[in-house]
Amino acid sequence: MHIVIQGAGRGIGYAMAKQAMAAGATQLILTARHPARTDGFRRLPPSDMVHWVEMDFLDPASIQAAAAQIIDRMPIIDRLVMVAGVLQDDVTQPEKRLSDLDPNALHHSYQVNAIGPMLLVKSLWPALRQPHPLVVASLSARVGSIADNRLGGWYGYRASKAALNQLSHTAAIELARYNPDSCMVTLHPGTVDTDLSRPFQKMATSTSIFTADQSAAQLWQVMGQLRPAQSGGFFAYDGSAIPF
Ligand SMILES: NC(=O)c1ccc[n+]([C@@H]2O[C@H](COP(=O)([O-])OP(=O)(O)OC[C@H]3O[C@@H](n4cnc5c(N)ncnc54)[C@H](OP(=O)(O)O)[C@@H]3O)[C@@H](O)[C@H]2O)c1
Repeated sequence: MHIVIQGAGRGIGYAMAKQAMAAGATQLILTARHPARTDGFRRLPPSDMVHWVEMDFLDPASIQAAAAQIIDRMPIIDRLVMVAGVLQDDVTQPEKRLSDLDPNALHHSYQVNAIGPMLLVKSLWPALRQPHPLVVASLSARVGSIADNRLGGWYGYRASKAALNQLSHTAAIELARYNPDSCMVTLHPGTVDTDLSRPFQKMATSTSIFTADQSAAQLWQVMGQLRPAQSGGFFAYDGSAIPF
């Protein structure tokens, strides 16, 4: 199986890369912004089977260049997993109220959480569109569900994940016209102990926090059970559908 994991340097992405190895990937392409600086790279170093590619979703040229390298090595992709996500960094903070809205921060969240993954799908299109069994999964978040939003706040993160859900749903429809064996979805990994969630974990109950390995194992199982009829959907780590 030819598998691409975007964002495999740490967190859930690295745990997904381990799942891909265990699932018998024959060729595995892993990406990170700076691969050699990551734990993932140290633990899964380049080999005949494992290849690392540099890619930054804030830089469309780097997405195109990375996709060209990927297609060169993998003209047909069987599974593409995209995990990039930002909730809080130097540019953006989870907004508590409307007065916290900042256009640059909103744009930043959209670039990493929604635009980047779709530009990657666009650039990898030749390796996805030919008829063959294919799963494309982007990690979204339950808080991106508009139907499920009762608490408010986190405007940029919520809105960018909702945008990702819509972009993925739209691309899934187009992809099915060319590759009827494809299934393209967004997935919610649960609350997972990673850099992203650590500052907010006191808001969750300790029993509801997964390790990255636990979450990745569940997500991998869900991806294995997905069928083309479910393409365009938004699913949780236990396989249940989440309303948009
Ligand atoms: N942890 C949770 O509780 C939770 C809950 C719901 C949804 N999620 C979603 O799950 C996904 C994985 O998050 P995580 O918990 O594993 O967080 P994490 O450990 O903070 O990892 C974040 C990932 O996003 C990548 N990334 C950040 N900025 C990027 C950029 N500009 N270009 C490309 N990649 C970029 C990072 O790659 P680098 O190594 O290159 O920085 C890393 O792979 C995210 O989409 C997140 O929204 C997580």
